[in-house]
Amino acid sequence: MNMKDKLLQLKDQVLKQLVNTKDVSVLRNLEIKYLGRKGELTKILRSVVDMGDVEKKDIGKLANNIKTEVINKFAEVKNSILTKTVNQSFVDVTLPGKIIDHGHLHPVTQVQNELEDLFISMGFMVLDGPEVESDYYNFEALNMPPYHPARDMQDTFYLDHKNKEKKYDLVMRTHTSNVQVRAMQKYGVPLRCIVPGVVFRSEATDACHDHTFYQLEGLMIDKDISITNLIAVTKKVLNGIFKKEMEIRIRPGYFPFVEPAIEIDIKCTICNGKKCSACKNSGWLELLPAGMVHPNVLKYGGIDSKKYSGFAFGLGLTRLVMMKYGINDIRLFNSGDLRFLKQF
Ligand code: DAH
Repeated sequence: MNMKDKLLQLKDQVLKQLVNTKDVSVLRNLEIKYLGRKGELTKILRSVVDMGDVEKKDIGKLANNIKTEVINKFAEVKNSILTKTVNQSFVDVTLPGKIIDHGHLHPVTQVQNELEDLFISMGFMVLDGPEVESDYYNFEALNMPPYHPARDMQDTFYLDHKNKEKKYDLVMRTHTSNVQVRAMQKYGVPLRCIVPGVVFRSEATDACHDHTFYQLEGLMIDKDISITNLIAVTKKVLNGIFKKEMEIRIRPGYFPFVEPAIEIDIKCTICNGKKCSACKNSGWLELLPAGMVHPNVLKYGGIDSKKYSGFAFGLGLTRLVMMKYGINDIRLFNSGDLRFLKQF
């Protein structure tokens, strides 16, 4: 076959292959095959140099024309493949967007925030305290020496850590009362503070007991503080949280760190005092143990109990949330179950 026929055949071959090409990488390979440095068309064009004058003129011209034609065809095919790809990945900007899930505050945190606002409005500071606490601040400084039977009321997680006397001396705090003496030592008197936070008990869990729950401690120390101040503050807070006038009941209680100790109950929010299973058929719910700070505790805090007196309370924050929303199982709070949490 002479050179002219060879060229025309090559051109036909390339154009035929190009028509069927739908993919950019296949196109790229064809380009290399025919137009690359060692490509078939390139080779012919190079050989033109060695041809005789007449042939050089004819073949050279033909080969150049074919090259231009082939290059243009490659560009055309490439363009059409790319346009098709863009059309296929068309984004409809009018479609509604993907809804991104967002979280919200846990119900306990929501009520905690409301309580903080109420107490701040009455001049209380909001304090924090360690969750891993010394035996001293959790028990001893609260008038509960190691032999004291009241320690049994709060079964504890002791940490595997012994002090110099080889005694276990760190616990997961069993109550927010651990911050009472710390606050007295740090801020002195007069003192008005609340301590919201998580506490831990070594409990067999059931609908009313969990190993991890929330309390909100309150402490007010000044000259001439009496139990009436305690009752007034409590009423104001409960009315604020439940957004109505709450009926309360006061009974005597016992805690080694307050004297006298009282228990403040609220009328059952579920049956409105008519007696139901939530209030163990009593019509009342225990919510707030409290009392007048024991002189020994004031002494541990470096406060003169002859000049100053104060009240303390330990509001069951998780309990309060249960009552506010009528939740009958405490374990739901730490379950991480979105079906529960999304209701708040
Ligand atoms: N810390 C006690 C508990 O968790 C509750 C308590 C009772 C706190 C009386 C107080 C108080 O401040 O005065 O069982």
